[in-house]
Amino acid sequence: MTTQAYLSEMFSLDGRVAMVTGGSSGIGRAVAEALARAGAGVVIVARKEAELAAAADELTAHGCRAAWVSADLGTRDGVRAAAEGVVDAFGEPDILVNCAGINLRPPMGELGEDVWDTTMAVNLEAPYLLGQRFGPGMAERGFGRIIHITSQQAHRAFVQSGAYGVSKGALESLARSQAEAWSPHGVTCNTLVPGFVMTPLNARLSSDPEKVAALAERTMVGRNGLAEDFAGAAVFLASGASAYVTGQAIFVDGGFSVH
Ligand SMILES: NC(=O)c1ccc[n+]([C@@H]2O[C@H](COP(=O)([O-])OP(=O)(O)OC[C@H]3O[C@@H](n4cnc5c(N)ncnc54)[C@H](OP(=O)(O)O)[C@@H]3O)[C@@H](O)[C@H]2O)c1
Repeated sequence: MTTQAYLSEMFSLDGRVAMVTGGSSGIGRAVAEALARAGAGVVIVARKEAELAAAADELTAHGCRAAWVSADLGTRDGVRAAAEGVVDAFGEPDILVNCAGINLRPPMGELGEDVWDTTMAVNLEAPYLLGQRFGPGMAERGFGRIIHITSQQAHRAFVQSGAYGVSKGALESLARSQAEAWSPHGVTCNTLVPGFVMTPLNARLSSDPEKVAALAERTMVGRNGLAEDFAGAAVFLASGASAYVTGQAIFVDGGFSVH
């Protein structure tokens, strides 16, 4: 067997369909590209149509199979519409990546019910609903991959974690519950845990050079994360190679969490 054939057997996503929420920006965009270039047909979901179309065009330009669905994952109807849009485009997904997320940071004492509800809806409830929609079908077909993007704030308080940290902690618990339910049927459920990644999500922090340098110093690698740092881990977790990895939180953070 050639090296190429061996690597393909282990990691190729040929013939798979992936749904990537938040696939129009930052980490989700890099993950969508990685899965698509590894062979999957990828449907990206977010709200802004122009960004979605641009991201999908980029995938198509790489010779990949890509589509997009605009939906607001902050509402239950939006989540349902997103799921059906994905199925209409490429059929039932084999791989679900929950990457869409928001981080609103009012001080804890001023954190109102509106911020709490919106944060839980997008960061936690949408992944739960999409899991309920697609997990049982994956289990029935005998193969599935569910990947959630959480945060170091699932593990520690950091810059007004507020509702965000709570939502991400719960998302890691959700992954374990899903793993318990569906791993016996070939469906693994894991989370990727970023540290500090330079994306539009944290534009305010990223634009302060002193804070950026201080955060880089706290990693072991010596720099902050880039969206493309998630490509390899995402392909691994989406592929056959990770069949015995489930219920885990895998840190992609340059050593930030253990320094
Ligand atoms: N950057 C970091 O340092 C960091 C650290 C830890 C964890 N994370 C996590 O990584 C994930 C990706 O973050 P990122 O940094 O790549 O952020 P980003 O560049 O801001 O991307 C967020 C994505 O989510 C989509 N989105 C937000 N609200 C949505 C809604 N209501 N409905 C549908 N889509 C929605 C956005 O598109 P629209 O605005 O068009 O809807 C966008 O595609 C998030 O879950 C975040 O919590 C990031």
